[in-house]
Amino acid sequence: MQLTRRAVTGAMIALAGALSWSGPALAQQEVKIGYALAAAPDSHYGVAATKWQEVVEAETDGRYTFRHFPSSGLGGEREVIEGVQLGTVEATIVSSGTLSNFVPEAGVFDIPFLFRDLSHARTVLDGPIGQDILKRFDDAGMVALAWGEQGFRHITNNRNAIETPKDVAGLKLRTMENPTHILAFEALGAAPTPMAWPEVISALQQGTIDGQENPLSVITSAKLSEVQDYLTLSGHVYSPAMLIVSKQLWEGMSPEDQEVFRKGASEAVAAMRDFVDNVETSGVEQLKGDGMEIGTLSAEQKAAFQKSLAGAYEQYYETYGKDLIDQIIATE
Ligand code: PAF
Repeated sequence: MQLTRRAVTGAMIALAGALSWSGPALAQQEVKIGYALAAAPDSHYGVAATKWQEVVEAETDGRYTFRHFPSSGLGGEREVIEGVQLGTVEATIVSSGTLSNFVPEAGVFDIPFLFRDLSHARTVLDGPIGQDILKRFDDAGMVALAWGEQGFRHITNNRNAIETPKDVAGLKLRTMENPTHILAFEALGAAPTPMAWPEVISALQQGTIDGQENPLSVITSAKLSEVQDYLTLSGHVYSPAMLIVSKQLWEGMSPEDQEVFRKGASEAVAAMRDFVDNVETSGVEQLKGDGMEIGTLSAEQKAAFQKSLAGAYEQYYETYGKDLIDQIIATE
């Protein structure tokens, strides 16, 4: 019998759940936490998960033990989030790839050219708009503790350098399974190909897609320079991440332990943001050294991409509300 990848992943998630223990009165027991992470241990996610673990371990007398499943060890992010809902995965740090499929309002942060810079994005996510969206994850059966980040997304591909929207015409570009991103690349005339992350490297190697888009934190840690020739520093969209725990885990904790987990999440976010700040400069040098051909979109070139997105923006206004989008843009 041949098992599908989804069935194998489902079985792995079930096994991780079976290995873990959660339930009432967790404060008295040793609790095993499985962390599912799409990126490598030395990535922004790895650094954040390690910091989170350190804070919890230091403040709970070893009552919680952690096991990391990096590099998509428990499958794609959609499967991991479903595992968190079921309680078979205790904790994760995920991108906004499939988040809006669980809480549609979260997709507003995936709108291209919404944020001016990292500081603007961090202010909005840490402020009332971002915190309100975090709370809505409660209705989706999970506890969203904080917004982290990956940085701004850039395009890599094997077909050509990109300077104008014409250069992405027909480009088979892997996107996340994210309707807001897909709409943008359709508007630009590319051929967006939504795909779960664990499939991406082999699809690039086999040439079934020409390129993909991700922040430098991912492009460097996933060694995309080994399978991609061109990098365009397009910064076309900010890429938030979210620190989530399962309700089963959360509701079994004492209020004191919940506070420690919140503190750990907040220190993890600080570590992740430091990582992103560093990789924004060191990453470009590293990828140049790896032989990638790198170009940066100028302000005028970015404006041309923004112009091509005018139709998509009309739909974003309809979906998320023009007032909210304007409020985010106006945040200082
Ligand atoms: O492109 C994605 O799917 C995400 O950015 C990734 C690489 C899984 C990190 O969360």
